[in-house]
Amino acid sequence: MKANTTAAFLGLLATSTSIVSNTVEAIFGRSNTTVTPPTTVSPPPFGYTAGSPESIANLKDKIKHIVWVLLENRSFDNILGGVNRPGLDNPTNNGDVCIPVNVTDPSVTECTRSKDFDSVLQDPDHSVTGNNFEFYSTFVPNDAAIQNGSLTATNQGFIQQQQLVWGPLGGENNTVALSAAQVMGYYDEAEVPTIVDIVDGFTTFNYWFSCIPGPTNPNRACALSGTSDGHGTNDNDFETASINVNSIFETASAHDISWLNYDGTNGAFAPDALFYSWTAANAPNNVVPIENFFQDACCDGNTNSMHPTGNVSFGQVFVKQIYDAVRQGPHWNDTLLLLTYDETGGFHDHVPSPIAVRPDDKTYTETALDGETYTFLFDRLGGRMPTWLISAFTPAGFVENLGTNPATGKPEVYSATSVLKTLGLLWDFADFTPRVSNSPSFDHLVGPTMRTDAPLVLTPPRPFPLDT
Ligand SMILES: *[C@@H]1O[C@H](CO)[C@@H](O)[C@H](O)[C@H]1NC(C)=O
Ligand SMILES: *[C@@H]1O[C@H](CO)[C@@H](O)[C@H](O)[C@H]1NC(C)=O
Ligand SMILES: *[C@@H]1O[C@H](CO)[C@@H](O)[C@H](O)[C@H]1NC(C)=O
Ligand SMILES: *[C@@H]1O[C@H](CO)[C@@H](O)[C@H](O)[C@H]1NC(C)=O
Ligand SMILES: *[C@@H]1O[C@H](CO)[C@@H](O)[C@H](O)[C@H]1NC(C)=O
Ligand SMILES: *[C@@H]1O[C@H](CO)[C@@H](O)[C@H](O)[C@H]1NC(C)=O
Ligand SMILES: *[C@@H]1O[C@H](CO)[C@@H](O)[C@H](O)[C@H]1NC(C)=O
Repeated sequence: MKANTTAAFLGLLATSTSIVSNTVEAIFGRSNTTVTPPTTVSPPPFGYTAGSPESIANLKDKIKHIVWVLLENRSFDNILGGVNRPGLDNPTNNGDVCIPVNVTDPSVTECTRSKDFDSVLQDPDHSVTGNNFEFYSTFVPNDAAIQNGSLTATNQGFIQQQQLVWGPLGGENNTVALSAAQVMGYYDEAEVPTIVDIVDGFTTFNYWFSCIPGPTNPNRACALSGTSDGHGTNDNDFETASINVNSIFETASAHDISWLNYDGTNGAFAPDALFYSWTAANAPNNVVPIENFFQDACCDGNTNSMHPTGNVSFGQVFVKQIYDAVRQGPHWNDTLLLLTYDETGGFHDHVPSPIAVRPDDKTYTETALDGETYTFLFDRLGGRMPTWLISAFTPAGFVENLGTNPATGKPEVYSATSVLKTLGLLWDFADFTPRVSNSPSFDHLVGPTMRTDAPLVLTPPRPFPLDT
């Protein structure tokens, strides 16, 4: 079974604490909307219980190839905030959310709203302490209080943090209105038609969080290793293959599962597989250009769409190219395409991020913008991100809410390490870290019967105004 199994990993750039109870507050903190998130595990669409022998046997029977796409830097509300489909926990369905411009003066607020521009020139802060301010309105939240539930995230600090990072409040090119548009804006359905096709056609996770409230490379490492090995910033170790922990790449090789890391970083970052000493020494040739994916996936020569034209959203073009290639290729019937993000990029989301078990005993210390020092214990999740499960066996238009924590049996949000948990069930490898052991698997969202109604191609995105 394993020798001819291909795992294709795409990098676009390329003491345990468990959830203390099943209540909304314990899982999510206080959400600043009138709509409360669910408190129970989603009813399984096919009757399979996650992680059960029947579910795992079905997964192994149906899925031979994994394509895992890790996109960059977007929150759930940023991408899906304007998509009006039943069950999505977003501003269009549940009401726009307003947060203060200055967290100590709640009288002036700005709200989530539709935005009509493609990219944001002023990259929002998504360092660990930047995320702290965005989630807790302070650079140095009290971690003991977070863990015992007396301090919960309220996600009130996004606009003030954007103002702090990009200039004085009200500066001529950095108005509150601009900052608010940048971090509180979301796309309407006409702007994300490719994404809407995926929501309609496949399975969307409503509560899927990044591994670490921090930047790109630590989150990518955590998704691939179940830990960032104490890294909380995009430091030089990632660029010099100095990350020295096990990863899905090493484990796949040990299990005789072939894999490739398709690199789309254009040199901006090291490709994910080359973070690791083991991979650099033992499998450097498994990192190939993203262009190879279209030849590998698709035998009908439909590669013209590889070249984005004009200023349409690159991300959607990329997603369409990947989907169309997999859908029309010879392995559509036995491929699971997982489309997710690495982290939320400092964009607002209205659902507070929950606590999570520590992957190991590593810590990370950072100096915040105001000079305060903060030590992170890797004991809570980053922001909520869009994630989709796509295959010939996943339900159409399905919204998955909470999963089951395999270690406690309690309702739990999905997160980046849910992928390693599920792949471990598929390919018989042990959990890399306690974080993985506590992450819900999604094997049960693959059904017993092949669908023949999946769209052959996704709708292309339309051009946007350039940026703001
Ligand atoms: C929700 O937002 C409003 C408006 O900014 C604010 O007054 C209120 O305190 C917030 N509630 C919570 C629980 O954060
Ligand atoms: C925020 O509001 C507080 C209380 O009104 C004020 O002292 C502080 O200067 C304000 N901060 C900014 C950056 O304007
Ligand atoms: C939670 O932790 C904080 C900070 O250590 C402490 O002040 C508070 O008393 C604790 N509350 C409970 C209910 O344990
Ligand atoms: C604001 O933007 C304008 C137009 O780009 C530029 O001429 C001006 O120098 C900018 N001001 C500051 C303070 O950066
Ligand atoms: C994503 O965030 C990283 C910092 O972690 C930043 O360097 C990178 O430019 C961002 N990517 C995009 C596409 O904005
Ligand atoms: C980008 O899109 C805007 C709005 O559709 C359009 O005015 C502009 O000409 C486009 N630019 C390019 C380079 O295609
Ligand atoms: C995939 O399944 C469909 C429906 O059963 C079948 O018609 C098609 O031949 C299969 N494709 C491949 C490549 O096996």
